[in-house]
Amino acid sequence: MKMQFKNSWFRRSSCPTQSAEACLLLGAQKPSTAANCPIDLQKAAQYLVFVRIKSLTNFVFFLTAVFLVGCGCKTLNFSRQTNANLSTQTIRPGTVWPDDRGRHIQAHGAGILKLGDTFYLFGEDRTQTNDPEKRYVACYSSHDLSHWHFCRQVVQLADPEHIGTGWVLERPKVYYNASKRKFVMYAHLDDNIYSMARVAVLECDQVDGDYHYLKSLRPLGHESRDLGQFVDDDGTPYLLSEDRPNGFRIYQLSEDYLSIAKDVCLVPEHLEGLALVHYGGLYYVVGSHLTGWDANPNVYATASSLTGPWSAFADIAPPEMKTYGSQSTFLLKVVGTKTTNVVFMADLWEPDTLWDSRYLWMPLRIGDGKLWLPKPCDWKINIGTGEFTLIKTIPSGNKTPVRTEANQ
Ligand code: GAL
Repeated sequence: MKMQFKNSWFRRSSCPTQSAEACLLLGAQKPSTAANCPIDLQKAAQYLVFVRIKSLTNFVFFLTAVFLVGCGCKTLNFSRQTNANLSTQTIRPGTVWPDDRGRHIQAHGAGILKLGDTFYLFGEDRTQTNDPEKRYVACYSSHDLSHWHFCRQVVQLADPEHIGTGWVLERPKVYYNASKRKFVMYAHLDDNIYSMARVAVLECDQVDGDYHYLKSLRPLGHESRDLGQFVDDDGTPYLLSEDRPNGFRIYQLSEDYLSIAKDVCLVPEHLEGLALVHYGGLYYVVGSHLTGWDANPNVYATASSLTGPWSAFADIAPPEMKTYGSQSTFLLKVVGTKTTNVVFMADLWEPDTLWDSRYLWMPLRIGDGKLWLPKPCDWKINIGTGEFTLIKTIPSGNKTPVRTEANQ
């Protein structure tokens, strides 16, 4: 997808470069942390004081070092300020989203698994320095959906089936099988021209452990490309899968979660990036049209049962905005003490620099069979109550909130 920044709500103006890593280094979005600044400088200073002051030249060198330490600390103060800003629970669609290491979150085509009060985010890890022969899935944890702790790369997989150069492992989704105490990951497995259309199944004893590859399958013999995840309120696990010749399908997983138990519904609509939520007594499914990395107007339909019938599909946002440059990946229901909201999670793909792809997460307007993605803006969620606040900003880019709108 080529981003049309000019006409878009979304401008990376605060960052002079398109590279996430470079932005981090420049401190444009993410500052350095206490860990990466003062310790080395202090050590350097100690080294100079106790070991190096032996001559006038070294004394001049020492003064220079003191000056540099001063500058370093000044930078640190600036960084702390920026960190303080980041420590609010604001979610900012389209920006570099630093994890607790200060690195842009690598969870593309993501899904979320909630265990107790912890959200686990899984997604494609496209880190630029990854071994190009392997495919990676990263896992992050959070209690507020805003601050993410990097757990680990839970998948660092070499080509599991001699697929060949450019093989693909995309859109990982993790289920928890409570009775077997196993974590099961499904992901799209393919070759470089997407002709295999298979599903990879991986398993682990811990949510953030090393997932080991079990097998690949075609669900009940059907092609499967983009896949999505849905777990119903009663805990029943479903796999959403794009079936190119037919549309998309909703499958129920088997008791051990390791295979497909049944084909619950074939929806004869050619959609991918599938996501589903049960809200207010209705099922809402969202998907994107088949335009590869390019954005298109994502659509939704509703049904009172997963088996259908499904309503006609309708736009989730003004169609000319092409979902604000994003593609759906997951619908997260946040159940609070006061209200329940649904967060639309989508990718802002950068196909040439996938590691720099950003995220568009926004609370949806949803209910009574209608679903609408508001124009992206900064927002906050109160995980306890389930309420969210949209932070409207002055169009100039000045971040001063001029109006806040609670709960839609
Ligand atoms: C999209 C899909 C992405 C990725 C991309 C490759 O349609 O949603 O996950 O596979 O195609 O072109």
